[in-house]
Amino acid sequence: MTKTALITGAAKRVGKAMAIHLAAKGWNIAIHYNTSESDAKLLMEQLKSSFPGQQFALFGGNLNNAPEVETLVSRVVDAMKNVDLLINNASVFDRADFAGTDTEFLDRQMNVNFRAPFILTREYVRLAKNGLIINFADTRITNNKSNFAAYSLSKKALWEMTKMAALEFGPNIRVNAIAPGLTLPPEEKDEDYLWKLAGNIAMKRPGGLDPILKSLDYIVNNDYLTGQLLFCDGGENLGLTD
Ligand SMILES: NC(=O)c1ccc[n+]([C@@H]2O[C@H](COP(=O)([O-])OP(=O)(O)OC[C@H]3O[C@@H](n4cnc5c(N)ncnc54)[C@H](OP(=O)(O)O)[C@@H]3O)[C@@H](O)[C@H]2O)c1
Repeated sequence: MTKTALITGAAKRVGKAMAIHLAAKGWNIAIHYNTSESDAKLLMEQLKSSFPGQQFALFGGNLNNAPEVETLVSRVVDAMKNVDLLINNASVFDRADFAGTDTEFLDRQMNVNFRAPFILTREYVRLAKNGLIINFADTRITNNKSNFAAYSLSKKALWEMTKMAALEFGPNIRVNAIAPGLTLPPEEKDEDYLWKLAGNIAMKRPGGLDPILKSLDYIVNNDYLTGQLLFCDGGENLGLTD
């Protein structure tokens, strides 16, 4: 049976790249989106015409809203019969230091980046019974900089959750994480922004999508790997040179 991947936040950027990459390897894709409905539709049409023998379907949902999160996996299972891979990719990335983080702001970062992957993992385990979960963390989990305080804490919690889930849900379900570094600039910034930041990391250049897709393949193909984090960050986790 063709395998199915559910990718959250798949309409654009990293999520879209992974959808195209996995589809080219023969996967069916459940494309989750929130506000980017037209991008999601375009992606689905593109995938349907490139890979006519596979299944592609759209699933909208606001991951800040628990009831919508709770039903997402069951909606995908109903429509696509099975889910073999869950990629918790969707994320909010908003700047505020600790003192500047009000409760509503904290809730949003934690809900989308940590609570939603927690609920989706629980529902995936309940309904899918076996397979693989990949959580998107961030190289920032290795430091205590507070310029994105709530975001960083949400990703630290997501990594801790990855290990706990891997231990509880083996051997039928593997749970791993990817920690990107300088991958794509935020939507309002350009490549120069990333190149400037890259001057202070070991590899001296942004990584783009390629290391992410290679790490995705590695995790998918290595069926003894669980509870692990792959840094795709050109060594940024080691610290900055300057
Ligand atoms: N880009 C980087 O350089 C970088 C660096 C480190 C870590 N990461 C991590 O890698 C992953 C992918 O990065 P990215 O830059 O591609 O992510 P992104 O563009 O910031 O976000 C991906 C998607 O998340 C969805 N999302 C946001 N809020 C949501 C909500 N309330 N409900 C449902 N979906 C929601 C959005 O979907 P809609 O557009 O449909 O609303 C968005 O397109 C993220 O987890 C990110 O934290 C990225």
